[in-house]
Amino acid sequence: MSDDTATLKLGSESYEFPVFKGTQGPDVVDIRKLYGQTGNFTFDPGFTSTASCESALTFIDGDEGILLHRGYNIEQLSEQSSFMEVSYLLLNGELPSKAELEDFSYTISRHTMLHEQLATFYKGFRRDAHPMAIMCGVVGALSAFYHDSTDIADPEHRKISSHRLIAKMPTIAAMAYKYSIGQPFLYPDNDLSYTGNFLRMTFGVPAETYEVNPVIERAMDRIFILHADHEQNASTSTVRLAGSSGANPFACIAAGIACLWGPAHGGANEAALNMLREIGTPDRIPHYIERAKDKNDPFRLMGFGHRVYKNYDPRATVMRKTVREIMAELKVTDPVFEVALQLEEMALNDPYFIEKKLFPNVDFYSGIILSAIGFPTEMFTVLFALSRTVGWVAQWNEMISDPGQKIGRPRQLYTGPAPRDYIPLSQR
Ligand code: ACO
Repeated sequence: MSDDTATLKLGSESYEFPVFKGTQGPDVVDIRKLYGQTGNFTFDPGFTSTASCESALTFIDGDEGILLHRGYNIEQLSEQSSFMEVSYLLLNGELPSKAELEDFSYTISRHTMLHEQLATFYKGFRRDAHPMAIMCGVVGALSAFYHDSTDIADPEHRKISSHRLIAKMPTIAAMAYKYSIGQPFLYPDNDLSYTGNFLRMTFGVPAETYEVNPVIERAMDRIFILHADHEQNASTSTVRLAGSSGANPFACIAAGIACLWGPAHGGANEAALNMLREIGTPDRIPHYIERAKDKNDPFRLMGFGHRVYKNYDPRATVMRKTVREIMAELKVTDPVFEVALQLEEMALNDPYFIEKKLFPNVDFYSGIILSAIGFPTEMFTVLFALSRTVGWVAQWNEMISDPGQKIGRPRQLYTGPAPRDYIPLSQR
């Protein structure tokens, strides 16, 4: 795997380090022996130049705006595949045959119910609790329920836990929503698709039959596909770090949910729609563009910019198209969509955004679709967590199955006081 070496000069000494080539993307300098050989650490807060692991799941070319899952392009997957199929692909490495897909979908549909005792957890939350707070709590609590599959060294146990997590997430998310609006929880209907079942549990009521709208079902499924995985982002790295200590998968996914909640990450779709609503009308856009450019103003254009994409986020392209489809189907217009389109055009022609390579990301348009479907903004990040669970689980599995896996333990550049003697309280 090592094709080349990199030479590091420190003072008068030179050190050689192997350089590895992946199948795509930049080469990496293997610095695992750096400390042992030189006594130095590297310094890379935010991991801007650090590959934290080896992975065969997802590849992003940020300069070209390309996203691949197991080699398949996200545009093709979102147009032609389904969330269940993409889940299988991420977990197993290859697209399933018809029989394999049916078997996988059947298995997932047979794990959708929650232990009845879990429903009581919801009642401990205030009705106005943010659903992400509920998700963190309830998903973490799953650890206390499935004692039959906690041996993470056993691939079969890992598989069962993975299936449970993917299957139960829609039920948990829908219950978080139902709790917030004071409606009864709905049990899953396993005759429906993964996405159709989620829509029914969210928007249906026990007193009426819920008809799944196929256009909304397809749009929602596509949104799930677009969020399924995104290589070593903050929440996925959190899941891997938590899992590296041997923690159980439910606790690891709860940690991922906590990280995803932040407005710089999964919380950005909620923040983006709130921002678009605050802007309100196209004539106010220039004012907000100026604010985003002002170094003394903390305001940023939410849904714009990305650590990896320095080009249009391919997921945003699909999202923009899906907004039009949903609006046509529901026969609604949302003035916020016009604000978004004009804001995008203005920003993309502004030297500040051009120079910094800031483009719309997946979150810029997703809020408009989700709002049109009927989700309140607090639910947006929950939907992200639901779909990203498959990526988290696949990445966690990949890490645990790696024979070279170690506990994650970064080092630091210490800038605190030098050693000093304790001064008794009476002398201070
Ligand atoms: N609006 C205005 N300026 C921006 C924006 C923005 N949305 N994003 C970045 N910039 C500017 C920064 O001020 C910085 O300017 P400087 O070089 O003059 O200091 C430069 O662009 C680089 O920005 P960083 O914050 O250093 O880039 P980083 O890679 O650390 O951050 C991030 C990426 C967090 C996504 C950032 O672009 C951002 O805050 N965007 C808004 C929030 C958002 O949409 N998050 C969703 C990300 S996608 C996801 O998680 C699914």
